[in-house]
Amino acid sequence: MENRNLYRTNQMLRARAGLPIVLLIVLGTGGAVWGQTQSAGAGESLAAWGKIVTVLQHPRCLNCHQLNSPLQEDSRRMHIPHVVRGADSHGVGPMRCGNCHNDGNNLTSRTPGAPEWSLAPVSMLWQGLSSGDLCRMLNDSARNGKRSPEALVEHMSSPLVLWGWNPGPGLEPVPIPHAEFINLMKVWVAGGTACPK
Ligand code: HEC
Ligand code: HEC
Repeated sequence: MENRNLYRTNQMLRARAGLPIVLLIVLGTGGAVWGQTQSAGAGESLAAWGKIVTVLQHPRCLNCHQLNSPLQEDSRRMHIPHVVRGADSHGVGPMRCGNCHNDGNNLTSRTPGAPEWSLAPVSMLWQGLSSGDLCRMLNDSARNGKRSPEALVEHMSSPLVLWGWNPGPGLEPVPIPHAEFINLMKVWVAGGTACPK
């Protein structure tokens, strides 16, 4: 019975002259979405960067991508108590980052946390960079931890970065949902990691 109904529906559909056009539109939209990440142009890449940079320059990311001491909260105030980088970027003496920052957010003390919590290396100083300079820094394997563009996309799902989407009580997460952010990164890379002037 079901087969017969299906057959009849097919017959009816075939009779409709509009069907090929509907099919073309469906295929066309799929192709556009596929093509967006597979073969984005420089214009799409640049547009994607314009959104990516709103995440990178958000305090959740910037507060650790500092020269000598981290910053705190949206006001980007000095970290209290005062802490400094030290030889391995994990702090000095009793002020080692891991003494207070654990593998996850501490909801009681309100201390944020993620594995290997530390300052980003000096070469990855983002504070004060324009959108274009930050873009070129990220693109420069001598300064980005020898990462290929594809490795950069992958790094955006590592624990320290993911913390920016789940910063714990009292802190605002970065502005773009993570899945959308990863898609933007893929478009940026597919279009040749275009940077503004
Ligand atoms: C707790 C401190 C901390 C926070 C918060 C943090 N980072 Fe980092 N970031 C680091 C450290 C440490 C490294 C070096 C890791 C490595 O090279 O393996 C790093 C490296 C990077 C890199 C490698 C390339 C480069 O040029 O800098 C990227 C990309 C990055 N972070 C993105 C982000 C984004 C996006 C956020 C916010 C959503 C963020 N980070 C938040 C500490 C932090
Ligand atoms: C003595 C404990 C202690 C030490 C040591 C310490 N922190 Fe913190 N840190 C805190 C506390 C508590 C907070 C949350 C304060 C608040 O915002 O209310 C914090 C917040 C932060 C923030 C702010 C996150 C945000 O976006 O607002 C960053 C970044 C940070 N710490 C990085 C570091 C780094 C890097 C080190 C090591 C160099 C370090 N901290 C060492 C206790 C510490």
